[in-house]
Amino acid sequence: MIVSSVSDLLSCSLFYQLEDLITVPVYLKIEGLNIANSIKLKTSKHMLEVHEKKQNIVKGKTKIICSTSGNLGIALSIICKAKGYDLICVVDLNTNLAAVDLIKLYGAKVIIVQEKDINGGFLGTRIKLIHKMMDQDKTFFWINQYEDQENAVAHYKTTAQEIYDEISDVAYLFVGAGTTGTLMGCARFFKEYSPETRIVAVDSKGSVTFSQSPKRRYIPGLGTSHRPGIVNERYIDDIVWVDDQSTAEMCHYIFDRYGLCIGGSTGSVLSAIYNKYKNICGKVVAISPDLGHSYLKSIYSLEWLEERGIFLPHSGKCNLRA
Ligand SMILES: Cc1ncc(COP(=O)(O)O)c(C=O)c1O
Repeated sequence: MIVSSVSDLLSCSLFYQLEDLITVPVYLKIEGLNIANSIKLKTSKHMLEVHEKKQNIVKGKTKIICSTSGNLGIALSIICKAKGYDLICVVDLNTNLAAVDLIKLYGAKVIIVQEKDINGGFLGTRIKLIHKMMDQDKTFFWINQYEDQENAVAHYKTTAQEIYDEISDVAYLFVGAGTTGTLMGCARFFKEYSPETRIVAVDSKGSVTFSQSPKRRYIPGLGTSHRPGIVNERYIDDIVWVDDQSTAEMCHYIFDRYGLCIGGSTGSVLSAIYNKYKNICGKVVAISPDLGHSYLKSIYSLEWLEERGIFLPHSGKCNLRA
């Protein structure tokens, strides 16, 4: 395949078949093998293109701004450099420093917020700052992954379609919830084209997305401290909340057992399947938004985990607790 745009440097439809995790194979859709190393390449590409078409973004006139915990910023910075747009990414103290450096390498500006919001996270603070900056400068356009339905449309048109094309009669689809763009896009697609597929959302314990009380969370990827506007429970059949301990155990277990280094959100999704859906039948698909290579100093550092009260059995050689 020959491509001529950096945002087309991706592998669309790759599934890793995990045998023996539960009674049936789990088909893990790998989204970390593209130029931005995460599923956010699809979100960024689609949202930018839609708003270019609507002329909300005009070269030489518009500056793009986004709130990101890392992956959206990386993906947008890559595309904005190629297209020649100015980009400002608002991140926070939890954002991986390697992600900040990569965003800067691609020429975007980074603002790191330090103050927590009322739910003890940073998302509310990031959003408040963007509103303030937009009030002061009308040339900003916000790629707003929390409120703009185009975030879900991106996955309705790509991720969901790719699963549907590759695997027939999916019985269960497990999707992690951050902004809920992936979840809502896939859930809407499957309710329309395969209504018998059960859609299971996976969130972190302590996230407020599905109206739970906020609690301290350390592992990045899933969960919010500010409910995203695009979430709609009507399309979801079940929600499973996973804590940091179970996520870390699953990441290390998958690495030891399969040699596959997964990101934290993938660990949460697989933990939800293992702990709550061990005996299901039929075809099971789960989405893996990124790989674990960006988390060497967090999820894959025993010291980092232990400082946060997360202890792995057998010093990292992880057997799952029954
Ligand atoms: C690693 C990772 N996993 C999961 C998600 C959640 O995806 P979504 O925002 O579509 O809910 C994100 C979002 O940034 C992410 O970066």
